[in-house]
Amino acid sequence: MNRVRTVRKAVIPVAGNGTRFLPATKAVPKEMLTIVDRPVVQYAVDEARQAGIEHIVFVTSRNKQVIEDHFDDAPELISSLSRSGKKAQISELEAMLPAAGSVSFTRQQAPLGLGHAVWCARDLIGDEPFALLLPDMVSFGARGCLAGLMDLYNEAGGNVVGVEQCAPEEASKYGIVGKGETARHGFAVTEMVEKPAAGKAPSNYYLNGRYILQPEIFSILAHQTRGAGNEIQLTDGMLTLSQSQSFHAHPYEGRTFDCGAKQGFIEANVAFALARADIGDLVFESVRDMVLSHESRIRAA
Ligand code: UTP
Repeated sequence: MNRVRTVRKAVIPVAGNGTRFLPATKAVPKEMLTIVDRPVVQYAVDEARQAGIEHIVFVTSRNKQVIEDHFDDAPELISSLSRSGKKAQISELEAMLPAAGSVSFTRQQAPLGLGHAVWCARDLIGDEPFALLLPDMVSFGARGCLAGLMDLYNEAGGNVVGVEQCAPEEASKYGIVGKGETARHGFAVTEMVEKPAAGKAPSNYYLNGRYILQPEIFSILAHQTRGAGNEIQLTDGMLTLSQSQSFHAHPYEGRTFDCGAKQGFIEANVAFALARADIGDLVFESVRDMVLSHESRIRAA
């Protein structure tokens, strides 16, 4: 018998302002910017489904209706594609369409921080453990990161976070966890520090935007005061929860791109394009040519 409660639902918060990506995000949600030919948020949904998630709760906001439309049927488009015999495109769109009733949307009226966005999902999640995926952190690897968190959750229960290793001198940019006893799919978390001062990080394992959390986080977030950036911070809530419940960390074997920042977004586009059977070889040749001519310009300068 499984000793942990099954994780059936996931929260995907999409209510942020995306200020690091202005002016693109003035009218287009950053979660709808595309990596190759799919919006960023689609990768998080695919990863959640691959990990066995049955229901996704989007925490959205004003001016983001296009995200809801993306996950709805498009009968006029399908008829038009059908008239022109575009069967492959129809199959792709149909495969992406969530089953009726398997997605919910709730609104965060103001972007008060990630902790507040997660709290907005409390009624839709109810009293059960849930996954949380930050959609702008895009997993790239043979397997999505959340599936690995599920393995560790089934082994250790409690709360689980996804981590990756950064260069030690970069640790002060991230949420960092301390490494304790090793488990089969990860390790016990001894401490969590948001943006530690230089030289004070307990390790170089940083939080990569994937979580499995117990529902007790909601009552903590309900009383959470504003922290860094004057926002209600999820990490502050997790720190409180860690006083009464276990946290384990799963080191992701792939790589996560921070697509909320320009460099990560461009890197993700190149990595995903190179991995594609239809365009990978062509993109490889043009990227290689660009790199070679860039190098020769540098050498000539
Ligand atoms: P980020 O901090 O990366 O998103 O939050 P942001 O605030 O939109 O980014 P910048 O700093 O202004 O460029 C990670 C995820 O959490 C969501 C965001 O939409 C993003 O998907 N989020 C963040 C919310 O839903 N609500 C918030 O109040 C903050």
